[in-house]
Amino acid sequence: MTTVRHLLTGTELSRDDLLHVLRRAHELKAHDVARGTTPPSHPRSLAGRSVGLIFQKPSTRTRISMEVGVHELGAHPLLLRPDEMQLSRGESVKDTARILSRHVHAVGIRTNEDALLEELAAEGTIPVVNLLTDGHHPCQVLADLLTLQEAFPHRLSDDGGLDDLHLAYVGDGNNVARSLALVGSIAGLRVSVVAPDGYQLAAGETPAELSKDPRAGVAGADCLYADVWVSMGDTDSDERRVALADYGVTDELLDAAGPGAIALHCLPAHPGEEISAEVLYGDRQRIWDQAENRRHAQKALLEWVLRAGPFADAPGTVE
Ligand code: CP
Ligand code: NVA
Repeated sequence: MTTVRHLLTGTELSRDDLLHVLRRAHELKAHDVARGTTPPSHPRSLAGRSVGLIFQKPSTRTRISMEVGVHELGAHPLLLRPDEMQLSRGESVKDTARILSRHVHAVGIRTNEDALLEELAAEGTIPVVNLLTDGHHPCQVLADLLTLQEAFPHRLSDDGGLDDLHLAYVGDGNNVARSLALVGSIAGLRVSVVAPDGYQLAAGETPAELSKDPRAGVAGADCLYADVWVSMGDTDSDERRVALADYGVTDELLDAAGPGAIALHCLPAHPGEEISAEVLYGDRQRIWDQAENRRHAQKALLEWVLRAGPFADAPGTVE
């Protein structure tokens, strides 16, 4: 029996798997360069399949990039809103997983609890992809790594690894910080998380270096990464804005990083809080490329979980 491939935290990917997915994402992006001029010729490697996309929290980038990406691969995306599903009226995750498994070939879900995702994966027979939970945002990090590879082509290892690069995440130690630490390190990336007391990742939960002082924490970094101070579901917004006030990515902080450092942000942004408008719209950022890369990276990931395209015959590594 073939093991079902999931992406719940991103740690399901071996280094080889991850770098293959990123290589494929670059290839898929190359098919896209004619966007807006001539019709792009996307490989339709998922023709005849359907992918369910459940969003129990708001989304702009993830929803758009997944829906368009699935379509470009020749498959049918089904957008499933919570108020339209019986899940919201008490139908169990177990039964929902069984029904999805009878009709669609993979499901992506954005929800609060990681446990719901795990149950969906355990009770169904199709791949489950995490489109953001309170704990993790692995799809985001696939795009982030792709963007780093594009920004630093001469600093990559022979296999495309990011072993020579240092990313410093500045701000709230949240789902995005955790995924950067977990998934980035699989690709060899050195990740630091710079956060005040009370907002830091737990010591030892990831391979990230944890620190508190913004200027010292970003020293020598090739990339400064920002995310919102108030994530979806956080209720203590005023408190957070006070605690995180010194943890914004600004030109001054970029000056304290390594030479040629770039800024990334998963978006949505709040200019003047976690990132300055000068950085967000300036020439040291790769943020808008990063947002586009969501689609290319997720398309490659879908091929990987569904064993399609270049992954059709590859055994891969799945725990
Ligand atoms: N970065 C990200 O996941 O954006 P959305 O919340 O808009 O999907
Ligand atoms: N940490 C943010 C990421 C948004 C893409 C959140 O969970 O709301």
